[in-house]
Amino acid sequence: MKPYRVALIGTGGIVGSHLEAIAAMGERVELVAAVDTNATRLEAVCAQTGIAHAYTDAAAMLAAEQPDLVHILTPPATHLPLILAALDAGAAVWCEKPLCRSLAEFDEIAAAEARTGRYVSTVFQWRFGSAVEHLRKLAGEKLLGRPLVATCQTLWYRDAAYYAAPWRGRFASETGGPTATLGIHLMDLLLWLWSEWEEVHALAATLDRPIEVEDVSMALVRFESGALGSIVTSALSPRQESYLRLDYQHATAEVKTLYRYANADWRFTPLPGETGDALAAAWQAIPCDRIGSHTAQLTLLLDSLDRGKRPLVSGIEARRIVEFIACLYKSAFTGQPVARGSITPGDPFYASMNGVSYAE
Ligand SMILES: NC(=O)c1ccc[n+]([C@@H]2O[C@H](COP(=O)([O-])OP(=O)(O)OC[C@H]3O[C@@H](n4cnc5c(N)ncnc54)[C@H](O)[C@@H]3O)[C@@H](O)[C@H]2O)c1
Repeated sequence: MKPYRVALIGTGGIVGSHLEAIAAMGERVELVAAVDTNATRLEAVCAQTGIAHAYTDAAAMLAAEQPDLVHILTPPATHLPLILAALDAGAAVWCEKPLCRSLAEFDEIAAAEARTGRYVSTVFQWRFGSAVEHLRKLAGEKLLGRPLVATCQTLWYRDAAYYAAPWRGRFASETGGPTATLGIHLMDLLLWLWSEWEEVHALAATLDRPIEVEDVSMALVRFESGALGSIVTSALSPRQESYLRLDYQHATAEVKTLYRYANADWRFTPLPGETGDALAAAWQAIPCDRIGSHTAQLTLLLDSLDRGKRPLVSGIEARRIVEFIACLYKSAFTGQPVARGSITPGDPFYASMNGVSYAE
């Protein structure tokens, strides 16, 4: 099979994770070009990695290189136009989170997928570690009982220098605060593991950074199964931690980490007794130790492209987190609980995360 011709758009902070993933793909991928509007940064990355073709304009790159797959690693406000341009040029897209700034933008992407027959997948590398795959398997085999109580905490620290980047700190350019950009990883994981949610109640505040977006949010969520979850997301926490705890009827599964997890970061505690011993043995039988990484996700993305199938974290599997975050913000701004499915075209929170047009 011929290698996929891949191009990168954006060569900033996250480019290293994409270069590492591409290098790990070996002959499956040929990295043909990189684009950045910042020529200095672009040239440094190209010189360091040997990328032959550098462009400061994405449209020029797409026309000249005709890549099969485009990785988009630019600030959130640029994602939609770059995704549409890549799809129209015949490429599949793998775009950094947050995929887009609103449900309206998501639905535009979905329409462009249908028009072009190409897929758009979002980076959510945490879905792809072996511990999470194993947990989903045990849950799918009904060994854990019903999900009951979730605790989902992204307690990170981002200082004023981080928010000084021109695209950060405003809804129109960053999509939102830590809820939409940091906690989104762990929330996506929770929603992916526990499937459909029903209703969210939230509070958000800007306590200690000179920004328009929130620097902390708290939410309570009810799942269709009846399970309840509490979600805390902060950019203000000096001792940083990502913590997800899932209490099922028969066992607690929890992970404590910061940005990546391996099997050893997980703790699995079944109820005592014979069934518990069997469950403990089932958990120990994790077949491998794979970190939830860009490399792990890209491997499966290419597998899907090989088969001409929709990749994971695309379509409705990508829309779920966009809708959840839109509803969380709507609840925080209105002081009312918000139900899944209730934000539709015409609702101000359909067009933006803070209910104010991004054009204003
Ligand atoms: N998956 C993860 O764990 C993870 C981690 C960090 C960042 N991200 C995401 O990656 C994206 C980029 O973040 P970053 O930290 O690398 O940002 P950054 O500011 O360091 O880099 C962004 C780059 O994009 C370039 N750029 C901006 N507009 C462009 C355009 N129209 N065409 C070409 N280049 C353009 C900028 O010049 C800059 O070099 C964001 O969406 C962010 O949320 C994801």
